[in-house]
Amino acid sequence: MEILEAIRRRRSIRDYKPDDIPEEVLLRILEAGRWAPSGKNFQPWKFIIVRDEKVRRQLAEASAQQYFMAKAPVIIVACGYPEESYARMGRYMKSWVVDVAIALEHMMLQAAAEGLGACWIGAFEEKEVKKILGIPDNVRVLALTPLGYPAEDPSPRSRKSLEQIISYEHY
Ligand SMILES: Cc1cc2nc3c(=O)[nH]c(=O)nc-3n(C[C@H](O)[C@H](O)[C@H](O)COP(=O)(O)O)c2cc1C
Repeated sequence: MEILEAIRRRRSIRDYKPDDIPEEVLLRILEAGRWAPSGKNFQPWKFIIVRDEKVRRQLAEASAQQYFMAKAPVIIVACGYPEESYARMGRYMKSWVVDVAIALEHMMLQAAAEGLGACWIGAFEEKEVKKILGIPDNVRVLALTPLGYPAEDPSPRSRKSLEQIISYEHY
């Protein structure tokens, strides 16, 4: 599938069929994240794959009670290592947030190309998620996403026009 087609096909999916994800499909999705770029190629990330139904429900509870997450057979929890990331991006920030976000988006696009749905989850209690999964203090949780076959086909949400977001040669 063309990359632009996968980008256009991707929607935030908030209802899932219970069907399991074949191992080879999941591996291709994870592989897409593995090849993501990162500051100085430090790859300061770890992705926790959660299949256990009870744990999925706990994660949904810790994510502002977004229970639709637990309907998906898999939840990916995207973690970053701030101290192992490029420290001077733009000379003012650590790169881990960007690095982990790019990798997770790579996975979400591959998921779309495989006919799977996902939904970036930013509303979560990091403390709770870390407790549920035994994530150490020095590791940060950036986002979660459910992953599964869509049980809905939402229409595209609007986007700003190119004119609104692009300028040429100067600001
Ligand atoms: C940083 C971030 C946080 C988000 N958090 C949530 C969330 O907690 N729950 C949710 O249902 N959607 C969440 N979303 C999904 C957005 O609502 C969604 O991407 C946006 O409305 C555009 O819709 P689309 O993804 O279908 O194109 C989040 C997206 C991003 C990028």
